[in-house]
Amino acid sequence: MASGPQNVREGPMGGERFVDALKVEMEAKLAKLNTDPSLTEAGGTAKLAPLVKMALKNEMEAAIIAAEWVATTPEVDARIAFARHAGDEARHYELIAEEARRQGVSLEGYDALDPPSPVLTYLRTLTTTVDRVAGALVAREEMGGRRNAQFLKVLDAAGHEGLARLYREVINPDEQRHHQSGCAVLARLAVTLEEQESARRTALRLLEIGDQVRTTLMEKMRVIVVPGC
Ligand SMILES: [Fe+2]
Ligand SMILES: [Fe+2]
Repeated sequence: MASGPQNVREGPMGGERFVDALKVEMEAKLAKLNTDPSLTEAGGTAKLAPLVKMALKNEMEAAIIAAEWVATTPEVDARIAFARHAGDEARHYELIAEEARRQGVSLEGYDALDPPSPVLTYLRTLTTTVDRVAGALVAREEMGGRRNAQFLKVLDAAGHEGLARLYREVINPDEQRHHQSGCAVLARLAVTLEEQESARRTALRLLEIGDQVRTTLMEKMRVIVVPGC
């Protein structure tokens, strides 16, 4: 392997090489999301309301944190990436909510930000642009995209055609684009050894927290997938 702590200590890599190495490290933590959800599990496909609320929560949290950072991000390309990200996630929220209501899911009194998830709480601790891009765009969007691919399989299996179309045609391609925009910005901004190490730690920590949240939700809510952002 070209990367690893020993090589990293010798000096910073080029930005693109750094991001490629980070993606390889992330893959080890994300691989479990590549499996098909066990659709045969009793009741697995029937729980649209809790799944939709989890999806809405993640979309809202992704929108809100990106929006919070727009005004405090000096680097123009990162600021634009956060602004576009916030707008897209807000649109995802709207589209999912519209379709959910059409399917008879009541969102009366539902507040997606109450309480904030550990992922949002962690993201709010990040103060540098490099860490924010690594956590919210590079790591969280890739994790969310893969969770949504699993969710789409559940939607297809359960015959929720409207939501499935939304995820297939709009949401999932957007999450992939958010991840890619983050990778491009990170490759430009993470140039020093310290920045690269910090971005790496942040991205991997985000995935760990996200995985803990997912495991807890799956046990508590007895669902077979957790939609991402
Ligand atoms: Fe996204
Ligand atoms: Fe989204």
